[in-house]
Amino acid sequence: MSLYARITGTGSALPPKRLTNEDMVSLLAARGLQTSDDWIVERTGIRARHFVEGDTQASDLALTASLRALQAAGRQPHEVDLIVVATSTPDMVFPSTATIVQRKLHEAAQAHGGQGPIGAPAFDLQAVCTGFIYALTVADALIRTGSARCALVVGAEVFSRILDFDDRTTCVLFGDGAGAVVLEATEHDGRGAGVLATDVHADGRHTGILCVPGTVAGGHVLGEPLLRMDGQAVFKLAVGVLEETARTTLAKAGLSEADIDWLIPHQANIRIMQSTARKLKLPMERVVVTVDQHGNTSAASIPLALDHAVRAGMVRPGQLLLLEGVGGGFTWGSALVRY
Ligand code: ACO
Repeated sequence: MSLYARITGTGSALPPKRLTNEDMVSLLAARGLQTSDDWIVERTGIRARHFVEGDTQASDLALTASLRALQAAGRQPHEVDLIVVATSTPDMVFPSTATIVQRKLHEAAQAHGGQGPIGAPAFDLQAVCTGFIYALTVADALIRTGSARCALVVGAEVFSRILDFDDRTTCVLFGDGAGAVVLEATEHDGRGAGVLATDVHADGRHTGILCVPGTVAGGHVLGEPLLRMDGQAVFKLAVGVLEETARTTLAKAGLSEADIDWLIPHQANIRIMQSTARKLKLPMERVVVTVDQHGNTSAASIPLALDHAVRAGMVRPGQLLLLEGVGGGFTWGSALVRY
């Protein structure tokens, strides 16, 4: 018998403020820019997105998603022995958003007379839109080696903070949100529920096609801390690598695309999802799509979509899920999960 990591609970969080495409039309018009619901829907499938307000941080969204995932798993915060937060929009330069989530979990638990996961290792993982797949891969490995038994794996983003609202080609694409899973150690022969295989990659030759080229030094912001993207270059790279990583993960688990019950892709763009589904010969009825309501929430998009599908009763125990993502870096990867 080997150790496997099993998803025992999912949760998510969206900030209350929802902007439809018509709201984006008005927002951009006030800045002298034109866009339309038709253009956004046709090119991306996006109809609405959520934006944080005030001083809401990635850790606040992560906390809500984590508490919901813990509740679904029937676990208390003190039982968590590993926290990994995938984010490209951390609360601050340091400490990690994961440690801030740890403190907030502790405070939330204390309010009910309990304790938080103080002492558990907590760290951020930065792989942009592939962040959740990377985080799941790392947590899965730590569970398989016996280093952790109950991990909280979170994707949380406040991309609205890094959008350039004078660039209509990018600001209409993204949204804020968080998703979380509780990943627990389980013993089985590999055919039961659990993470069956993962596959992650990066190609640093393409750092420039999707980036936020800014940093801080000497108390000043250097460069441009706003999202820049060569959309067509991203599109071309994405469709190729997503098929490749899907096939690699399936091969590692000795399964084929016909075995997949649900494809849960990173929600960047409906056309990328349709292309991947076509290549894997999967009907769109077996693809979880939330991009229409959430936009692209980067590292949060896969766990958000997973939680949506679980709570909607679409994903059921025993089903085979292929999660896959692609993003800045350039990074990409996938995970095959028996739910
Ligand atoms: N509203 C109206 N018109 C627009 C808008 C807008 N918001 N944005 C661009 N346009 C115009 C352009 O100015 C251009 O006009 P022109 O022909 O007069 O010059 C025209 O629309 C076409 O522009 P393109 O950039 O060629 O549009 P394209 O068909 O490539 O679609 C898009 C752009 C949607 C970004 C596409 O390239 C794409 O889907 N790329 C994938 C990248 C992606 O999804 N990124 C998300 C983040 S990355 C990730 O998560 C992996």
